[in-house]
Amino acid sequence: MTIVHIIQDDITGLDVDAIVNAANNSLLGGGGVDGAIHRAAGPGLLAECRTLNGCATGDAKITGGHRLTAKHVIHTVGPVWHGGNANEAELLKNCYQRCMQLADKNSVRSIAFPAISCGVYGYPVEQAADIAISTVLEQAERYSEISDVYFVCFNDAVYYAYQQAYQNRD
Ligand code: APR
Repeated sequence: MTIVHIIQDDITGLDVDAIVNAANNSLLGGGGVDGAIHRAAGPGLLAECRTLNGCATGDAKITGGHRLTAKHVIHTVGPVWHGGNANEAELLKNCYQRCMQLADKNSVRSIAFPAISCGVYGYPVEQAADIAISTVLEQAERYSEISDVYFVCFNDAVYYAYQQAYQNRD
């Protein structure tokens, strides 16, 4: 049985097995949560990311946590919002599926997600939260070893959207 936690916090300080990074296709760092994770993890994370040869949108790749408390970072690349007719929902769903699959494959028991694509990439938060909650709950049925999933919200609007999405889940 997977326990879902919806919290307001800075993902970089969480004591979990894996934190998820909302990265870009280069995997070479950026702003937002990507920048925060790289700053907290130190230069070793970038050095490891350089060996990964990037990441396709909707896919995910795993590294060590380096100076982070978390043992692993799972880097995923969400879709840029282009109005909803460019397969964005499917690509965002793929991000959450791939992260859960990699978590299971690497014996991750606790995983923390930021609101993927909801910052620079402009995905409407309500729609993204629905996809995040429904996909992770669906995957948690398959990967029952994952005991705790954290949705880490960085502001009130995102926190409210995730609370609503969880309350309205099927
Ligand atoms: N902890 C948790 N959440 C955070 C943190 C943090 N320290 N910093 C930012 N966030 C939140 C943002 O407020 C937003 O809700 O993460 C969510 C995702 O926003 P972005 O980081 O902008 O990611 P995204 O929209 O997926 O855009 C990815 O931005 O930073 C670049 O390199 C990154 O090019 C990539 C793009």
